[in-house]
Amino acid sequence: MPTVTIDNVAVEVEKESTILQAARQAGIWIPTLCYHPAVPPAANCRLCLVELDRGNWKQLVTACNYPVRRDITVSVSSEAAVNARRGVMELLLARAPENAQLKALARRMGVEGTPWPTVTKTQRDCILCGLCTAVCDEVMGRAAIGIAGRGQNRAISAPFRQPADNCLGCGACAAVCPVGTIQIRMHEKEGEIEISPFKTRAKMLECEQCGARVVSVAVTEEALKKGKMDWEKFRRLVRLCPKCRQKRAAADLTSVAAMAAQMGYLAQPGAAAKRKTPRRSKSATSRKKM
Ligand code: SF4
Ligand code: FES
Repeated sequence: MPTVTIDNVAVEVEKESTILQAARQAGIWIPTLCYHPAVPPAANCRLCLVELDRGNWKQLVTACNYPVRRDITVSVSSEAAVNARRGVMELLLARAPENAQLKALARRMGVEGTPWPTVTKTQRDCILCGLCTAVCDEVMGRAAIGIAGRGQNRAISAPFRQPADNCLGCGACAAVCPVGTIQIRMHEKEGEIEISPFKTRAKMLECEQCGARVVSVAVTEEALKKGKMDWEKFRRLVRLCPKCRQKRAAADLTSVAAMAAQMGYLAQPGAAAKRKTPRRSKSATSRKKM
């Protein structure tokens, strides 16, 4: 296994691991934005730059997608690496100067603001990391959103900036967005969720007991297609939300216990609490005799 020496800490890693994985193993923090374990790293944000020592020369590389194939020495805290990451953060802040998550990460990196003219507001705080499009395309197989426009007008959008009709309403894009740009809103009256800012809506499946909405109908239909189960059978199984299912299971158990007690298979409920002295196990009694 190759050894990665990061800021003088040596760790052994599997071949083809990334520098980021090695750093995490060594307990060394490298800031990231576009890295998510659910999708292959695309190194779009450039925030995880580190300095790789190549013997006679040094090179800045992105830690999230640089594969370790032999023993290497890396610096996270060298002046060049720190300055490069701060420079990238200043550019990202120019895209989303008011974004709370981005500002918090910038502060942690010692960056307080940006010298660059800010470009966003209309771009809804998006730093174009590409995680949402990757998860929609590569994990969910939908490609309901993509990158549209050029230069300053580049933005993540549904085709023709209209609600996408192939969106499942799974919310994976919102879950992976590192700066909270994509939000899920619930429209209670219509029983629909909306993926904002794409204005895409999806009908939700209701719990028969409490009416809570747990998952979109399109997601369940997709799961059914893959699982080859029919809708009626599936609906019978998932007609309750997890909370109501737990309550129902607890109630069922209590009634089974009460019935068993009535039939003499179990002590009456509460009998154990009334017993003053604890019951000794057989093995404890025989140990005492010996
Ligand atoms: S919306 Fe979020 S996840 Fe998508 S590109 Fe923008 S910042 Fe990244
Ligand atoms: S986290 Fe490595 S380039 Fe974005």
